[in-house]
Amino acid sequence: MEIKENRNYEKLMKVFLRNGLEEPSPDDTSTLLKAWEIIEDEQVVGGSSVTNHNGAYVLEYFAIDEPFRDKGWSRQLFELAIAYLKEQSASIVYIVTKIPSYFKKVGFEKIDRKDAPDFSECFDCQQYMENCFPEVMAKPLTI
Ligand SMILES: CC(C)(COP(=O)(O)OP(=O)(O)OC[C@H]1O[C@@H](n2cnc3c(N)ncnc32)[C@H](O)[C@@H]1OP(=O)(O)O)[C@@H](O)C(=O)NCCC(=O)NCCS
Repeated sequence: MEIKENRNYEKLMKVFLRNGLEEPSPDDTSTLLKAWEIIEDEQVVGGSSVTNHNGAYVLEYFAIDEPFRDKGWSRQLFELAIAYLKEQSASIVYIVTKIPSYFKKVGFEKIDRKDAPDFSECFDCQQYMENCFPEVMAKPLTI
């Protein structure tokens, strides 16, 4: 297994989508900062990306294909993203997620939607809080 900086985001997006994450909307105003991919046997089997939405740093995508889970790889992926955000002098990172228990383990706390910057396309989605109930979470980044 190797984790590398991603150079083909479209290919990595396929990994995110096949793991149930939402497609980016065409009017997404976020700026992709950096993405990483997990390579196993020359295949991309996971990855993550971080974005900046008008100054708000977001862990945008984070996924590993099922056969490659439970190996601790996600923690390595996560640590890379956090180290990068600290290099950017980010003081806080946000996520919208359907698996809050995972992100709680790595230091995120649930926050009220109204206390979060308007960084997620989820908030404008018709499904949001109708039949899709993600949590908004934040993690302060200390040096
Ligand atoms: C989130 C995800 C990347 C974790 O991958 P993974 O390979 O299982 O993670 P790891 O093997 O590194 O597990 C690390 C820890 O997270 C825990 N964990 C894994 N999936 C979890 C989940 N869905 N909920 C809560 N905890 C979870 C593991 O139990 C383990 O805990 P431990 O260290 O206390 O033993 C993977 O489940 C996934 O791709 N999910 C689908 C996409 C998704 O929902 N992404 C997040 C939203 S952006």
